Amino acid sequence: MSKQTIHAGLDIGSTKVSAIVMSRDADSGAIEVIGTGVAECDGLKRGVVSNINKTAEAIRAAVDRAEQTSGYQLGPVVVGISGEHISTFNTRGIVTTRTSEISESDVKRLHDELSQVHVTPDRRILHVIPQDYLIDGQDGISDPLGMSGRRLEANALVITASSSAVDNLYKCVERAGLHVDAVVLQSIASSYAVLDEAEREVGVALVDIGGGTTDMAIYKDNVLRYVSVIGIAGQRVTDDIVAVLGIRNTDAESIKLSYGHAISESILRDEHFQVPGIGGRTPTEVSKSILCQVIEPRMEEIYDFVLSRIHESGMSHQLAAGVVLTGGCTELYGSEQLAQRTFRLPVNKGLPRGFGNDGFAREVTTPSRATAIGLALYGIKHHHEFISDSHDVQPTIQAAKDAPPAEPAEVHVHKKGVVQRLKDWFENF
Ligand SMILES: Nc1ncnc2c1ncn2[C@@H]1O[C@H](COP(=O)(O)OP(=O)(O)OP(=O)(O)O)[C@@H](O)[C@H]1O
Ligand SMILES: [Mg+2]
Repeated sequence: MSKQTIHAGLDIGSTKVSAIVMSRDADSGAIEVIGTGVAECDGLKRGVVSNINKTAEAIRAAVDRAEQTSGYQLGPVVVGISGEHISTFNTRGIVTTRTSEISESDVKRLHDELSQVHVTPDRRILHVIPQDYLIDGQDGISDPLGMSGRRLEANALVITASSSAVDNLYKCVERAGLHVDAVVLQSIASSYAVLDEAEREVGVALVDIGGGTTDMAIYKDNVLRYVSVIGIAGQRVTDDIVAVLGIRNTDAESIKLSYGHAISESILRDEHFQVPGIGGRTPTEVSKSILCQVIEPRMEEIYDFVLSRIHESGMSHQLAAGVVLTGGCTELYGSEQLAQRTFRLPVNKGLPRGFGNDGFAREVTTPSRATAIGLALYGIKHHHEFISDSHDVQPTIQAAKDAPPAEPAEVHVHKKGVVQRLKDWFENF
C-alpha cells in the first residue's frame, strides 16, 4: 500500500475560519482534499486578530469539523496571515563559492545569509524571495546552479509582518489546541491555489478580495515580485448597504448575496425586493439597480486601490496574463466586468485547483476557499523548510524557479480509530 502524507491549511479570515485537510500519495504525488471545516468568525478586524477568544473558538469549531470529515486529528497546521501591517523591502546577499562551479550548498549558504537580514524587534520576517542572481558581477541570472563563478550574489524581496500580529495569531491557534507549522502570507497561499505556472511565467496579478482585506501578489518569470494588502473589501460594501438602506448588518449581507451586482450592465432583469423595516417600521421595496448604485462605487474604489498598487509595483506593462480575481467578494455578479473596465487588462476568475490542475471536489472549489487550499498546498511544497513549534517564524526561502512539490516528511497526524470517529460524529448532533 502506498504511503500518504497529510497536510492542513488554516485560513483565519475576517469573516470565517476555514480549515482544509489534504492527503498526498507518496508514490503518485496525487493530492486530494479529504476534510474541510468552516466556522464564522468575528474576532478579526481588517485581517488582524482583535479578539483572541472569539478567534480561538472559531478555529476550534472549523478544525473539529475538518477532523471529523477527514478522520485525522490535526498536528501542525500552516496558517495564513494578512493585514495592512504587512510590508516589504529589498536586500542583497553575497557568498564566495568553494569551487569554481556554483553548487547547491553555495546557493543554500546565500539563502541562509539573505534570511539573516536585520529587522527591528517589532517586525518578523515571513518570506525571503530571491529575485535574481549575479555571478562575478554579471546580473540577470535566474538559476545559478552549475554555472562557473567565484562570487554569487542575489537580490531578494523580504516580506515582514508586525511581531504582535504574528504573536496574536500564534496565541489563537495554540489556544485552539493546535501547533503552527508555518505562517504564510495569504496572497501567496491563494496564488498557490488558483494560478498556474504559465500565468506566473508571463506575468499576472492575483487579487484576493475577502471580507476585511484585499490581498495582492504579482508574479513574473515564475518569481513573486510584489505583494500588498489593502484594508478594504466586501464587509465595507455591506457597511454601505447598512448605512444607505438603514437596515441591520445581517439583512444587508443577505440582500447583497441575493441581489447584489457590482456593475449595472450585469443586471439582465431588474427586480424589486423587500427590505425589512427596523423597530416595527414597514418594509420598503428596493430594486436591484438601486442596490447596485450603492455597491458599484465601493467596488470601484477597491479596484482603484488595486490599480494604483499595480502601478506602484512597476509591473503594469508586464502582466500578459492580466489579473486573476479570487476571494468571496468576487462572487458578486459583475465583479469581473467592473474589474475589466477599471484595469483595462484581461481579467479571469481564479478557482482553487491543485498542482498541475488536479481537480478538487466541487464543495471546496469556491473563491473563498482559495487561501485555505493554498495553505495546504504550500505545506506540501515547502514542508521540509519549516521548523515547527517555534514562536520565531522561520522565513521560508523560495527557489527563484518553482521547484516540483518537495517530498514531505512523515505523516505528522494521528489517524483516529473508527469508534472515535463515530463518537465524534454523533457528538456533533
Ligand atoms: N455570493 C456572494 N456575493 C457577494 N458577496 C459575497 C458572496 N459570497 C461571499 N461574499 C462576500 O465575500 C466576503 C468574504 O469573503 P472571504 O470568505 O474570501 O473573506 P475572508 O477570507 O473571511 O476575509 P479576509 O480574507 O478579508 O480576511 C464577504 O464580504 C461576503 O459578503
Ligand atoms: Mg480571505
